[in-house]
Amino acid sequence: MLDPRINYTMRGGTHPNPEIEAIEYQIAENALKAFSTEIFFQKKGLKWTYNWFYYSSIYATRDPEMLKWIYKNRPYPDFIEVETSTFCNLKCTMCEHTYWCEKNQNMSYEDFLIILNQFPRLKWIGLTGIGESYLNPDFERMLTECKRRGLFVENFDNFTLLDEKHARKLVELKVDKLYVSLDGATKETYEKIRVGAKWETVIKNIKTLDRIKKEMNCYEPEFWFHFIVSKDNKHEMVKYIELIHELGIDCKQAQFTILLHPYKEIKDKATDVTDEEKRAVIKRGQELGINASFNMNTQDKSKVPPLSDCSLWMMPFIFVDGTVIPCCSMNEQNDRPWQVKTRLGNLFEEPFRKIWYDKKYTNMCKQISENKQCAQCARCNLYK
Ligand SMILES: C[S@@+](CC[C@H](N)C(=O)[O-])C[C@H]1O[C@@H](n2cnc3c(N)ncnc32)[C@H](O)[C@@H]1O
Ligand code: SF4
Ligand code: SF4
Repeated sequence: MLDPRINYTMRGGTHPNPEIEAIEYQIAENALKAFSTEIFFQKKGLKWTYNWFYYSSIYATRDPEMLKWIYKNRPYPDFIEVETSTFCNLKCTMCEHTYWCEKNQNMSYEDFLIILNQFPRLKWIGLTGIGESYLNPDFERMLTECKRRGLFVENFDNFTLLDEKHARKLVELKVDKLYVSLDGATKETYEKIRVGAKWETVIKNIKTLDRIKKEMNCYEPEFWFHFIVSKDNKHEMVKYIELIHELGIDCKQAQFTILLHPYKEIKDKATDVTDEEKRAVIKRGQELGINASFNMNTQDKSKVPPLSDCSLWMMPFIFVDGTVIPCCSMNEQNDRPWQVKTRLGNLFEEPFRKIWYDKKYTNMCKQISENKQCAQCARCNLYK
């Protein structure tokens, strides 16, 4: 017999498209099963559990059948990334923010709600853009609203401003996933890259959040560590794993990413990671109980998957001024004017629903599915 929680509590109604309805229903059934047996999900709540199952089953899938379904049905986005601030307090040597000529801006809370309200079935949100979120005075209000809506929330932070008060709020809100952007295992290397940051402050803030989580016996936020690999810090990758171990942090994963785009100003810092180097990091992680992973952009260039394997366009990225681009991987190339020129629309100028069903978006998805290059993805390094 149909369990009413599937259609009401979890999904807020059935979907009019039978093919989307069938997948949603199947995912909801699996989520309900897990909810019935696992305390972890019971603590998270039924709606969150469904949201998490949906995201994990669909986003960045490598399952050919699921990809076929995605391209055929092109479901209205359930996952978005929103840039809440382009103010920053650091001048990191690998980041476009240090070099660009964009105006610094905070998104207002009202504009943020305008965005959220256009995605009534939203399940997942990332609140990181090119900037430091805590410089937006409304940032915690935004986090609070996202959690009130039962969303999975992910964020990246430089941890320079994340003091005891902010840390406590993150734990109270149960923000789901937080990346610590730490690109070195020593004070010397870190401060050379993250210009303006103080190693001791950042380590103290990381420890404070970990302590509060433990005091409050709280699993969230999950700690992920993010290390952007360049010629300046590559020699510290193994030591980085050892540092996380020494700190005694409850770390879900240490993730290594190479520069997204080796643009003019940072070209001389760009480097690849060899399989042997990856193995050494992963092995040390296994010895110390730290889960290490390498981002998709570190893959062998000859093994880059075809465009038609991409479904990352299911998570549009929304700039602080409302500009909509297909995904986050076109960031960090220090050419926002090009991103604005090839944009899919502006959400503060017209409803997202109109942008999504417009020719530009539809054609882009069609071209990607047919392995044809489109203007928005012409500079993609993840798929070819
Ligand atoms: C742009 S920052 C914004 C959030 C916050 N300011 C921070 O540093 O975490 C988001 C992530 O992008 C990473 N990043 C910066 N420059 C990059 C680059 N050239 N290529 C890839 N990732 C980069 C940062 O290390 C950080 O983890
Ligand atoms: S990486 Fe983050 S902290 Fe560093 S300059 Fe970019 S936005 Fe600012
Ligand atoms: S830029 Fe690349 S990753 Fe993003 S949607 Fe286009 S093909 Fe996919």
